[in-house]
Amino acid sequence: MIISSASRLKGEVILPGDKSISHRAAIFSALAVGSSKISNFGTSADCAATVKCLQKLGVQIERDGAGLLVEGVGKNGLRLPDGNLDCENSGTTMRLMAGVLAGQDFTSVLTGDESLQKRPMRRVIDPLEEMGAEIESKDGRAPLIVSGRSPLKAINYEPSAASAQLKSCVLLAGLNADGVTSVLEKTQTRDHTERMFRWLGVEVAEEKLAEGTKLSVSGDAKLTARDISVPSDLSSAAFFIVAAAFLEGSELNMPNVGFNPSRKAVVDVLKDLGIDIAASDEREVCNEPVADLTVKGTDGGGKVDLIVLSGGVIANLIDEIPILAVAGSQMKGGLEVRDAGELRIKESDRITAIVENLRRMGASVEEFDDGFRVQRSKLKGAVIDSFNDHRIAMAFAVAGLFAEGETEIVGAESAAVSFPAFFDEIARVIY
Ligand code: S3P
Repeated sequence: MIISSASRLKGEVILPGDKSISHRAAIFSALAVGSSKISNFGTSADCAATVKCLQKLGVQIERDGAGLLVEGVGKNGLRLPDGNLDCENSGTTMRLMAGVLAGQDFTSVLTGDESLQKRPMRRVIDPLEEMGAEIESKDGRAPLIVSGRSPLKAINYEPSAASAQLKSCVLLAGLNADGVTSVLEKTQTRDHTERMFRWLGVEVAEEKLAEGTKLSVSGDAKLTARDISVPSDLSSAAFFIVAAAFLEGSELNMPNVGFNPSRKAVVDVLKDLGIDIAASDEREVCNEPVADLTVKGTDGGGKVDLIVLSGGVIANLIDEIPILAVAGSQMKGGLEVRDAGELRIKESDRITAIVENLRRMGASVEEFDDGFRVQRSKLKGAVIDSFNDHRIAMAFAVAGLFAEGETEIVGAESAAVSFPAFFDEIARVIY
């Protein structure tokens, strides 16, 4: 994909349904009692992989325009799949489905693409084995051969990483355990699982302790089918927010975007910089906070000296760091990111991918084990390696809009993992 510099963006952006919420809507509706309709289901390849896995496990799921119709089978109603369950590029599919399959009375195999087979799964294997499942892996990596047990043993778990996927995996397994399962969350991660469990009638007890928040579910709890309306994806919106923010005279509207406090730190950071983002009509839809967003372009650069992002906020903007890095290259004082070692085990090593590609565009960047520092730089068009990572491809496409000359994104098709229409949408709003 070739990107040329742009002067401004205008219009309304059509965003996909939230990826994290769509995965959960499909999985939880499949495990619920009764049928449900999910509207604005994410168009991402990752969400499609989740649907295919559930269909292989015997769940009837039909497409209905931009939505899904799901016939729930109940939490013990999945059936032995014919062949492996392919999670493709999706860590969320693999980690959440591992929690589901651990509590079923059969053996199934979760596999994925080359990138997913390199990502660490020990973090889910350990608690699920403690609960009584048996999981064979290639040294903590997929394919995972999951021999489930029903019921599992309830545990009190302290996660080894601040990860919503890991938390959700253990809470899902807890629905098939012989008592109350709890997860002690020391750093808050996205809480979509807790919110949707409650929407579907499962109580999630929340206890504030000195060390963090203890979340508990009972093995007796049942998910009851209920229609779900998925908000638009804030992580996808972030590419457009940054693009418009640094192109003076731009104005983009993004209606019905997920505005969950555990996900919206990217907006807070950009606002602190003096960027003109307004959230209006803040409301809750199916237990999820939602807002209409408008961003206006300024002369760029922001008002603040070097911004340092570190500590607990990192979990709340982890997926937005590639695009924030691009924003950092346009900010007066630059941007430093620390405590973000998790970026090295995403769809690619995102610290390497960010640093390497910013350097190719002529930016001044320093790499750390757990982050990077980028200084305000005049970007030049370059050949970008997406590392087959959707968020790298999209972040550097936005960098291409700011750069002098042409930028070529190699592996641009990886954008489809979360946002198949990304390049069409960018082209549509260039003014
Ligand atoms: C996700 C959680 C995050 C995030 C991923 C989606 C989720 O991963 O990076 O894109 O839907 O739970 P971790 O839980 O591994 O931090």
